[in-house]
Amino acid sequence: MSRSCTDVRPEIHDFTPYSPGLSIDEIRERYGLFQVIKLASNENPLGASPQVQKALQKSASLAFRYPQSGNPRLIQALAAHYRLPEDMLVVGNGSDEIIDLFIRILAVPGKHTIITCDPCFSMYTLQARLAGVAQKKIPLNPDFSFNWEALRAAVDEHTVLIFLTTPDNPSGSCPPRDEVLAFAASLPPHVLLIMDEAYMDFADSPGIASVIPCLAEYPNLAVIRTFSKSFGLAGMRVGFGIMPPRLADSMRRVRLPFSVGVLAEEAAIAALDDTAFFEETLKTVREGREYLKAALEKLRCRVAPSSANYLMFRLPDDCGYTAQNVVDALLTRGVIIRPLKSYGLPDHLRVSIGNATENKMFVNTLGNLLARKGRES
Ligand SMILES: Cc1ncc(COP(=O)(O)O)c(C=O)c1O
Repeated sequence: MSRSCTDVRPEIHDFTPYSPGLSIDEIRERYGLFQVIKLASNENPLGASPQVQKALQKSASLAFRYPQSGNPRLIQALAAHYRLPEDMLVVGNGSDEIIDLFIRILAVPGKHTIITCDPCFSMYTLQARLAGVAQKKIPLNPDFSFNWEALRAAVDEHTVLIFLTTPDNPSGSCPPRDEVLAFAASLPPHVLLIMDEAYMDFADSPGIASVIPCLAEYPNLAVIRTFSKSFGLAGMRVGFGIMPPRLADSMRRVRLPFSVGVLAEEAAIAALDDTAFFEETLKTVREGREYLKAALEKLRCRVAPSSANYLMFRLPDDCGYTAQNVVDALLTRGVIIRPLKSYGLPDHLRVSIGNATENKMFVNTLGNLLARKGRES
């Protein structure tokens, strides 16, 4: 049969796109609501830093310019902030771009495989599929911790990289740094371990820490970080990778030259500088996490321990609702949270830590729903 100009690659036919959930405006319009809160995408509960907003206003007139290729000013600022050599850093259009680039520069389709946990952040799966690269998914332990033995056993001569998320998404579970380093040390030299530390800033438990200070001693270790969470820049799309200089050089050479725009770069530099906003964010998330955990447990929900800016939980078995019922009922009342069916966890829900008002609104709305069902039965 002859080929048509609209025949896409086989991987694209059944490609399920990333499902981002509904926006505040969509819910407002759909249900005619005035007040809607979004606790579904793990964004910053304090919004955008005032210093970032000023920097954006100041540089608005530069919108007609291309950014400097490779964003050297942002690279310099990151190197100073994290005390790293500049040649280990690559910035991207969100950490999503860095994830995509790692797969595409390291894995040969049909030859190499990547390893992730199951469930895991969906971008690893989506970008591997798009690249035509096979993925081995290693089930998490029942308590959502990593199964180190199974991960290690899955490594073979075809494995080129392993993505692990610390703290993990969607559970919030996080192993101590020593365990991560021991695992990195156990890997053969042809395997790169990539730690996605999108949520690491929110962790505050003993032993749990970033591997960034250890990178120099572990040649097969890399880190992915984002400005979307603790720095409050999800809409600007800036992330970065920290990796062995040879790899960073390859990634910089193939990266789209202008994927981090002028305003995004200015915003990221200003965000690194605004330590007051950053510290306030961490305080708000850590206090909100305690409050929400206690409040959900009071409603008899089972809440997974979390080092991130979200909580994964299950409803009481006898509450009369499925998880999806609750997501839908909360939506009609102006509260957006994340169902976890797409992660293969249809009975679990994930709620982002909001500011104090948002957290109370979520708890009151959920509490009223559960109480109403209790009265009906
Ligand atoms: C684990 C993890 N990694 C990466 C990302 C992507 O972040 P970015 O906005 O920098 O693309 C997310 C976003 O939610 C995430 O949960």
